[in-house]
Amino acid sequence: MRSPHVAIVTGAARGIGAATAKRLAQDGLTVAVLDLDEDSCKPVVQEIDKAGGRAIGVGADVADEAAVAFAVQRVVEEVGAPTVLVNNAGILRDNLLFKMTADEWDAVINVHLRGAFLMTRAVQRHMTVAAWGRIVNLSSTCALGNRGQANYSAAKAGIQGFTKTLAMELGKFGVTANAIAPGFIETDMTAATAERIGVGFEELKEASLEEIAVKRIGTPDDVAHAVSFLVSPDAGFVSGQVLYVAGGPA
Ligand code: NAI
Repeated sequence: MRSPHVAIVTGAARGIGAATAKRLAQDGLTVAVLDLDEDSCKPVVQEIDKAGGRAIGVGADVADEAAVAFAVQRVVEEVGAPTVLVNNAGILRDNLLFKMTADEWDAVINVHLRGAFLMTRAVQRHMTVAAWGRIVNLSSTCALGNRGQANYSAAKAGIQGFTKTLAMELGKFGVTANAIAPGFIETDMTAATAERIGVGFEELKEASLEEIAVKRIGTPDDVAHAVSFLVSPDAGFVSGQVLYVAGGPA
């Protein structure tokens, strides 16, 4: 059954964002698949179309204020006012603190934190008008600290504070805000981490299993399933939470 809701999923051309966009389309939502380059969104949009869902591709840098305003306006005009937002776009610029450049710090903080802020500020007014909304922000188990990721762990911890504040400010408008903090999920991002630290991806996955209670690596669909629950109409009494999707206690 088609839901009346329009969702924007950022960073949705691949990985967790792509799985989430496809899952929300399956749930009946109309989905704006947003990523840096509109062309890169096409395969996800086509897959959704083929499965009988409804989606559009939108190109925008979430850290660029004017691009965000333009992108959200496009969504409103082409498919309707968005009432679901998944702030998923992310990058890594890992380095030990003593080697980390200010550019590496700024790039990560800008995409994760400024990006989530700009997208949420632009979309919340459509949610408050509708008196209904769902916001899900991607944090990470790295919010608890991770060697080589001072920038990323600060951003992911910041996302948790941001989420709780959104829940407080927007609750009276029927809007919930929650964060999902995934553990090790098999995507291009974690494959790039293996490359950076000079180990094979299979080797990294094998080594990580030791720390994961359920003894398997996570998949983008594991995260998409949690997003699907948090944005569902019946989840309206769950807000300001951080849900660890990590195969065990974080
Ligand atoms: P990914 O690297 O496979 O995909 C990220 C997507 O975000 C890419 O399509 C990229 O083009 C897009 N993106 C990057 N900068 C952007 C910008 N400025 N504007 C718009 N789009 C932009 O990453 P993955 O693994 O799918 O991660 C998705 C989210 O989940 C990220 O926020 C990441 O930090 C978080 N996460 C991932 C985990 C993992 O193990 N893969 C674990 C915990 C959190």
